[in-house]
Amino acid sequence: MLAETVIAGLLLASSAVAAPAPDPLTFIKRAANPGVVIQKCSSPGMLALAYDDGPYQYTSTLVDILDKAGAKATFFWTGTLYGCIYNQAAAVKKTYASGHQIASHSWTHGHMGSMSESQIRSEMTKVEDALVNLIGKKPLYMRPPYLETGGSFLPTMKSMNYKVITNDVDAGDWNNKTPQQSQQSFQQAGTSGNGHIPLMHETYSGTVNTLTPWLINWAKQNNLKLVTVAECLGDAGGMYQAGNFTGNGKNTC
Ligand SMILES: *[C@@H]1O[C@H](CO)[C@@H](O)[C@H](O)[C@H]1NC(C)=O
Ligand SMILES: [Zn+2]
Repeated sequence: MLAETVIAGLLLASSAVAAPAPDPLTFIKRAANPGVVIQKCSSPGMLALAYDDGPYQYTSTLVDILDKAGAKATFFWTGTLYGCIYNQAAAVKKTYASGHQIASHSWTHGHMGSMSESQIRSEMTKVEDALVNLIGKKPLYMRPPYLETGGSFLPTMKSMNYKVITNDVDAGDWNNKTPQQSQQSFQQAGTSGNGHIPLMHETYSGTVNTLTPWLINWAKQNNLKLVTVAECLGDAGGMYQAGNFTGNGKNTC
């Protein structure tokens, strides 16, 4: 996708300017910084399955498939895109209780690259309020809808302390790719180098019921550990803001 290409180019250009003698830890140090775009894991030997756009009708099934395989994954959820998040309260609680990472994908799935700072903040705090009401936690990770990171977006994420995740492999399920075509994208990306953080959507039955079992098997055959995005960045314990929160029950869809 164009946006990713531009981001990758910017990262390359800025590191070339900033570090005449390249520091091999540069990427990892950056990955720890809020408001900086992260596309892949900071170590090899892992795969961070990451699903956007839920919670939805397949969430519970997906958690069962992952749990049966001993896999951990990351869920980038919105408040309203596929119905109200509160309508999926049981699936939300089940996902959290199973130890998967719950992260934000904004409240309405809008174009945050062209929103004002106050609109962007509202998109993020509404998801926080809902997750506090449902699981007592506020996420520290997010993926922007449409992978849009321009305008006021990144500075606002930095000031809100959010780690911004995009992707380095695109399953293309959002663009009518079949699970078989998505599998080819993973095979082309390969299993060497730092772990992948793919773009996938839990809102397609093919992604949940066909692609995910294939990926679990692919990871097993290639000795890749299936981990959360936080773990693949060396921060397994840092999925959420510190502390437990009590909801006020006021946030609604
Ligand atoms: C938050 O809640 C969990 C689960 O009840 C508990 O284990 C943990 O100690 C709590 N953390 C804080 C900071 O209160
Ligand atoms: Zn999305």
